[in-house]
This record gives sequence, C-alpha cells and structure tokens, in this order.
Amino acid sequence: MDGFTDWPFRVICRELGSAMSYTEFVNVDEIAHARRAASAVKLKLKFSEMERPVAFQIYGHVDERLVETARALQDLGPDIIDLNLGCAIRKIAERGAGAGMLKDPARLGRLLASLSAALRIPVTAKIRLGWNDRSRNYLEVSKALEENGCALIAVHARTKEQGHSGPADWSAIAEIKSRARIPILGNGNVHTVDDIEAMKQETQCDGVMIGRAAIGHPWIFSRREKESVPLEESIAMARRHLGMMTGLYGPEFGCLIFRKHAVRYVHHLVSVGKLRSRLVLCSNVAEYESLFAEALKIEGKSKEMTRES
Ligand SMILES: Cc1cc2nc3c(=O)[nH]c(=O)nc-3n(C[C@H](O)[C@H](O)[C@H](O)COP(=O)(O)O)c2cc1C
Repeated sequence: MDGFTDWPFRVICRELGSAMSYTEFVNVDEIAHARRAASAVKLKLKFSEMERPVAFQIYGHVDERLVETARALQDLGPDIIDLNLGCAIRKIAERGAGAGMLKDPARLGRLLASLSAALRIPVTAKIRLGWNDRSRNYLEVSKALEENGCALIAVHARTKEQGHSGPADWSAIAEIKSRARIPILGNGNVHTVDDIEAMKQETQCDGVMIGRAAIGHPWIFSRREKESVPLEESIAMARRHLGMMTGLYGPEFGCLIFRKHAVRYVHHLVSVGKLRSRLVLCSNVAEYESLFAEALKIEGKSKEMTRES
C-alpha cells in the first residue's frame, strides 16, 4: 500500500507472519524520467532478505516502458515483478494505468506475454473486478493474464468505481479461482482473523492479501485479533516502528510520516480524541514519547477504575 508498506512496516509484518511482501507501487515513468525521484524510488524498493519472496509492484500506461523498466528492476533482486491493474486513483486510472488497463483484456494479454518473455523472474498481477458494475470483466482479464504467463493473480474484489469502500464481492474471487490453474490471492473486506478464514472458505483462494487491517495491527499476520493486543504491547511496537522509520528517512521526515501509523497503534484509546489529535501533530521523537507515556497513564488509570468498581 502506497504510503504505508515501506521497508520498516513490511519487516514488522513479516516477523509477525506475513507470507510475502509487495513493495509500494512505483511509477515506471518516474523511474524512466525523473532523476529527482530516483532516491524516493530507491527507498520504496528497499527490502530485506528475510522478506523473500518479495514482489516489486509497478504501474504505468505505456507498455514498452513497463517492459523496459521491469527488465531493469529485476537486477535489483526482487523475486517477482507485479503489475498493478487495480489502482483507482483518478490521475492514474483515467490516464490508462492501474485499473485503467482493465478495459482492454486483449492488450493486457499482449503486455503479459512481453513481460514474461523479457523477464527471468515471474510476473504477477493485481486486478479489480472491472471498471464499474457494467463492465465486470474479471474472468476475461484473469484468463488473458494466465494464458500469457502470469504466475499469480491477486484479486481486489471491488470495481474501480467502488474505490476502497462498499461491499467486496468474494463470489467473484471464487469464480476466478475455480477457473484458474495459477494461485489466486483474495483481497478486500478482510478486517479480522475470522475474515481471513471466511474468505478462504468461501473462495478457496490460495492466500489472503491484507491491506488496511494491518495498519496499527500487524499482529493480524499472527492470527491475533486487535482486542487481544494490550496497549503496552502496541506502544512498544510503535516505538520500534518509529525508530526504524527515523533510521530510514531521518528524524524529521521519519517522524512526520509515522503520524498515520501512530494513531492506529493507539486504537485502544478511541475515546481519548484529544490524544489522537495531538499524535497527528508530533514532529519529533520526544513528542511521541510524551504522548505514548500519557496514553499508558490513561490506560493505567482506567484499569484501576475498572478494578475498583
Ligand atoms: C492508502 C492506500 C494505498 C494503497 N496502495 C496500493 C498499492 O500501492 N498497490 C496496490 O496494489 N494496492 C494498493 N492499495 C489497495 C490495497 O492493496 C487493497 O487492494 C485495498 O485496500 C483493499 O484491501 P483491504 O480492504 O485489505 O485494505 C492501497 C490502498 C490504500 C488504502
């Protein structure tokens, strides 16, 4: 997930049981053109050996550039190149990249054939069910991908028009799985450990891809529900995660981009709105530390009150 699944977060997820890693997607145009963006792209593609198998995810709208860039990226050592066919962001999808590519399955087939021929490592894809309810062409798309060398398909069971909300149609994952001879990962509307098992049962998918449910709760990969992780443990992980991020990005930027993780690690304190709104303003480690300490104090007091009553 762009903006979230960077190297620190993926390492934490892997330690807790995730089966493979996908990098945040990278734009092949940026890689080909912008020198300025080179260091940002390098950070996005940083990974540890313990994360293998690791997939570099790419997107773009020019087939030749996708192939050329994928070929160059494989020299950085990923196990897989994954093609993003699911991004619904307007400036990406409406320019014909991400989910915009779903509109033309025949062209996708040709692209996959070129990628498979050009690369010495497997090519996989992440799709949605189609552009909108009137064009749910996921069977056609998955067939074109598989027939042209795609090694695995991750299916986000929503259309482009649905974005990230609304019901995910797991029956479509089951349909794809029942026809495919390659592994199929299911994705969408998995919030809890029970949801993981339910999706597997309902779709027979080979694996479950977890996105937002892992933010602030990487323990989902250890099959632990949110409620079973005490605030102390959550804050200990937040401290470690923050340290990894400041190590990677430097103290200033690391603290800035940790904010979106920080608020999710203290979901226990939903009622303490003020503390959460102060967390999203933290700009250095000392500020985070003081709020973590405050959170633990609030939690301690509320436990004491529960014991007394
Ligand atoms: C902030 C954000 C960033 C995302 N970035 C990516 C991305 O880079 N590549 C990708 O394939 N999907 C991306 N997604 C989509 C997720 O991988 C996933 O398909 C979607 O969130 C549904 O799964 P979930 O309900 O488990 O989150 C992103 C989603 C969000 C919310």
